[in-house]
Amino acid sequence: MSYTIKEITAQETWAVRHPVLRADRPLATCSMDGDLNADTLHLGLFDSNNLVGVASFMNNQNSQFTGRQYQLRGMGILESHQKKKLGGLLIDAGEEKLKQLKVEVLWCNARIKALNFYLRKGFTISGLPFDIENVGVHYLLSKKLQ
Ligand SMILES: CC(C)(COP(=O)(O)OP(=O)(O)OC[C@H]1O[C@@H](n2cnc3c(N)ncnc32)[C@H](O)[C@@H]1OP(=O)(O)O)[C@@H](O)C(=O)NCCC(=O)NCCS
Repeated sequence: MSYTIKEITAQETWAVRHPVLRADRPLATCSMDGDLNADTLHLGLFDSNNLVGVASFMNNQNSQFTGRQYQLRGMGILESHQKKKLGGLLIDAGEEKLKQLKVEVLWCNARIKALNFYLRKGFTISGLPFDIENVGVHYLLSKKLQ
């Protein structure tokens, strides 16, 4: 299999965000605050020419952390391509770009189902789990990049 990772638009992420993160909800719920900001980075992972994974990195500060921060949002791999370590490749590629921008902390709100995935990628938990309406229980996670 040959996989490539490249920058995509916010709109292009919807083809993966919708089935894996917003299934059974209207397509418009795929839109996220910050999607169109000039400093937001959307990465797509392609299997040949087919988009199978997405991750978005947004310039968002969280008061729990100090230093220059980005938030990882909309992380998803199509079900057909899960459990092949492809999600990790997207995180690695995003981290490389953020390090060049001198970003010090990458953080995210993680669903319980994805918690082990993020822990394996070197993220650590901050504080207690919390609920996000319509999505479920989440953990605040972060990883130092520099
Ligand atoms: C979470 C997600 C991004 C992980 O991406 P991925 O590329 O599938 O990640 P990995 O392949 O590294 O691992 C996924 C699981 O497959 C398992 N796995 C990996 N290789 C495997 C194999 N050869 N055989 C069986 N299972 C395997 C891993 O143990 C892991 O399970 P765990 O996380 O419960 O421990 C992806 O599953 C996904 O898009 N899920 C739905 C959307 C979602 O929840 N996104 C995160 C929002 S916070």
